[in-house]
Amino acid sequence: MRLDKFLCTCTGLTRIQAKRTIGKGGVTVNGALQKSPAAKVTDQCEVVYDGRSLKLQGPIYIMLNKPLDTVSASLDDDYRSVLGIIDIETRIPLLIAGRLDMDTTGLLLITDDGKWSHSITSPKKECGKRYRVTLAEPLVDDAVELFAKGIMLRGEREATLPATLEILSPLEALLTIHEGKYHQVKRMFAALNNRVVELHREQVGNIVLDETLELGEWRYLTEEEVGAVR
Ligand code: URA
Repeated sequence: MRLDKFLCTCTGLTRIQAKRTIGKGGVTVNGALQKSPAAKVTDQCEVVYDGRSLKLQGPIYIMLNKPLDTVSASLDDDYRSVLGIIDIETRIPLLIAGRLDMDTTGLLLITDDGKWSHSITSPKKECGKRYRVTLAEPLVDDAVELFAKGIMLRGEREATLPATLEILSPLEALLTIHEGKYHQVKRMFAALNNRVVELHREQVGNIVLDETLELGEWRYLTEEEVGAVR
């Protein structure tokens, strides 16, 4: 790869900025000054810019066990963003693949790979998301059937897609949905005159939240987990 492209990819500099930086003698390759933007480098070369040794970085895939009182947005005036928890340097801004409410905990997938994120969030892909739900009132007897048929949410024209409800106790259930309408889980239970008091996401597609992660902890996804989404 050309040195100027390598520099852009690793740092986010534009091609013009990279060429200028290299031309001014701001970059060394394997210990020697390299002033030619067209010089060829490989990932075996040691390229140093601004005192930093640069490495070509592949896309990043992360699972976070989202804690309470954090927002799934990059900026918020009042609350901590989940991206503040992932304290790493990245080439391009990270994306949150399927947001959670401030008071929802659990599996949040974070990446800089737009296509991968899209395959989780696109309504067309109908990627399943499993939530552990704690309720204020006991579940009605026909709850499983009602969720399977689809539920009419307030303000919507069509019922939700069929969802799978697994009852764990009168006040606790696992719910798998295949879409991501605004506050969907809370609104589905509200439509049955119930109220969600705790909501925790355990699974997205084939990716299951790692039980060893405490709230607020994260890790990189394995290759298998990344591939499981595609
Ligand atoms: N449904 C909700 O109501 N809230 C979430 O955070 C996720 C799904």
